[in-house]
Amino acid sequence: MLVLGIETSCDDTAAAVVRDGRDVLSSVSTSQDAFHAKYGGIVPEIASRRHVALLSAAVEDALARAGERFESVDGIAVTRGPGLIGSLVVGVAAAKALAFALGKPLYGINHLHGHLFAPFLDRPERPPYPFLALLVSGGHSQLVAVESATALRIVGRTRDDAAGEAFDKTARLLGLPYPGGAELDRMAVAGNPRAYAFPRHKPAPGTLDLSFSGLKTSVRYFLESPAGRDARREDVAASFQAAVVDVLVARLTSAYESAPYQAVVLSGGVAANSALVRAVTEWSARRHVDAFVPPAKYCTDNAAMIAAAAFYQREAARVDPLALTADPSLDFALLHTE
Ligand code: KG4
Ligand code: ZN
Repeated sequence: MLVLGIETSCDDTAAAVVRDGRDVLSSVSTSQDAFHAKYGGIVPEIASRRHVALLSAAVEDALARAGERFESVDGIAVTRGPGLIGSLVVGVAAAKALAFALGKPLYGINHLHGHLFAPFLDRPERPPYPFLALLVSGGHSQLVAVESATALRIVGRTRDDAAGEAFDKTARLLGLPYPGGAELDRMAVAGNPRAYAFPRHKPAPGTLDLSFSGLKTSVRYFLESPAGRDARREDVAASFQAAVVDVLVARLTSAYESAPYQAVVLSGGVAANSALVRAVTEWSARRHVDAFVPPAKYCTDNAAMIAAAAFYQREAARVDPLALTADPSLDFALLHTE
């Protein structure tokens, strides 16, 4: 099954061609970071205009790199939500037009479901259900029990900031440009993660909740204090990162111990974080648990993961090209047929 994937939920304009949810024949993405960096965040109006300007070329480029033609594609997959409405509608309109004109099936995919299947791209293994996913991105931080491609349940979530948001806000405090997660990661390499003991959030009893706003505020107060003004930025970055990783691994451990899982999966933009990848890899080796961590190019937003989700969810995600609408606050558990 050859799927053309389209992803425009936020600021990256992405297209990909994927065979059987696994073999990535092409995955192209034009980052808009340069356009948004000067505003210190994503400007929705700019994002949707850039999608309009770039999407056709991204789709043609993905097909050309894959050595395929529109006619050979078996279906079109597109992110229908959650995300920025102005960005989503560009991808959804394009996918509907293609599916309708070519007479191909259309798959409306939840962006977060895409992240869950990204770790299985370019790998021989199929998803080993049930697995536990730690999904950490710019907009979401959650633990998901994935019982099948269509039975996905959130078992823990952040009460405030998403992990990526905490990285971006802290990076800004450290004077790094937006989006700062990857830059903070690089800065932390030269720092001491034990230099400062920033607070680690503890969940309410019986929950697997996460929280990062207290940590971010504590870094801010520290940086504004006399000691903070003299502190090495690298040490602050490394200590902040260590606190985030500790909280994520602690919650992953509690979730893993609460039900019988076959494997753990790390996904979302923050899964590209070097300290988190190291900690989860060590954790899985120590416990003899299979861990799937995607390479950085599939951690952050991409269209290959959307094509993969369509392959795994097939009929449950299939929609009439004329009926599909973008939904900026699409419910996590909702599949099209429900
Ligand atoms: O999944 P993603 O590309 O977009 C969303 O759906 O949100 O995630 C983007 C987030 C941003 O907050 C970015 O700063 C963060 O992932 N990120 C990182 C790293 N690379 C990207 N955070 C920490 N360390 C990294 N290496
Ligand atoms: Zn994402």
